[in-house]
Amino acid sequence: MSFKIRMAEVSRKRQTNIVLALDFPFQNPKEREKLLARAQSILDLASPHICAVKINHHLTLPLGIFDGVQILVNQARQAGLLTIMDGKVNDIGATNQTIAEYYYEAGFDALIVNPFIGWEEGLKPIFEVAGKHGRGIILLTYMSHKGAVEGYGQTVIDGENRLEVKQYLVFAHKALKYKADGVVVGATAPDKIREVYQILGSTVPIYSPGIGAQGGEISAATKAGASYLIVGREIVQAPDAAGVAEKFKLSARKTT
Ligand code: XMP
Repeated sequence: MSFKIRMAEVSRKRQTNIVLALDFPFQNPKEREKLLARAQSILDLASPHICAVKINHHLTLPLGIFDGVQILVNQARQAGLLTIMDGKVNDIGATNQTIAEYYYEAGFDALIVNPFIGWEEGLKPIFEVAGKHGRGIILLTYMSHKGAVEGYGQTVIDGENRLEVKQYLVFAHKALKYKADGVVVGATAPDKIREVYQILGSTVPIYSPGIGAQGGEISAATKAGASYLIVGREIVQAPDAAGVAEKFKLSARKTT
């Protein structure tokens, strides 16, 4: 079963489309055990209200992958959650292939990659590794930060039909062509979510980060077409992580 279908099923069963971004600010790398314990505790508290957890360098750098982040991946799996590695993979094929092998070996269900690298000797090897392991790939399409306009928001000449088009719309079409399991479009740009949704419909789901801390709103992102909402600091740094996660879950349910 594809990652896309697994996500839809887990989300439906758990009645939530919230993806927790398990991020923590820099701390002394010598206090690794403390960080791991804190991450385990937040994941445990948020679990009833989320369908997946997204991990990135905030944890892979201080904890390492095997015997570090992998402990969290296993915890998530035992709680019935799916796991996404936000690696924004962005290198040549041989390197991408190795990166993907390690992340999937650690147990991640899906990997976020950067479509700027192109297909041949870029994305293709990652899709091959994902296919071999039966895991998912999610393509960045329009990032949530302000500077995204300089890359993802550029007007470009489309390589196939030679017409002017926005870069993020080219990526949306490529997500369809490559049969990606999802795309990422920032909640800070609901207009872009709407445009991307017009291309993808329900064939490729939209994951939307940037809720709360970056100014994005659940209702605007959902109404524009986002299927999954990625929330980090608002939950992780809250004194009542479980309560805030529940609030996001219920708020998303109301607008879905
Ligand atoms: P906050 O604390 O802002 O965390 O809720 C957001 C999380 O999502 C990541 N992020 C992105 N990941 N494409 C991605 O793949 C994006 O456009 C994007 N914007 C934010 C961020 O690193 C953090 O983990």
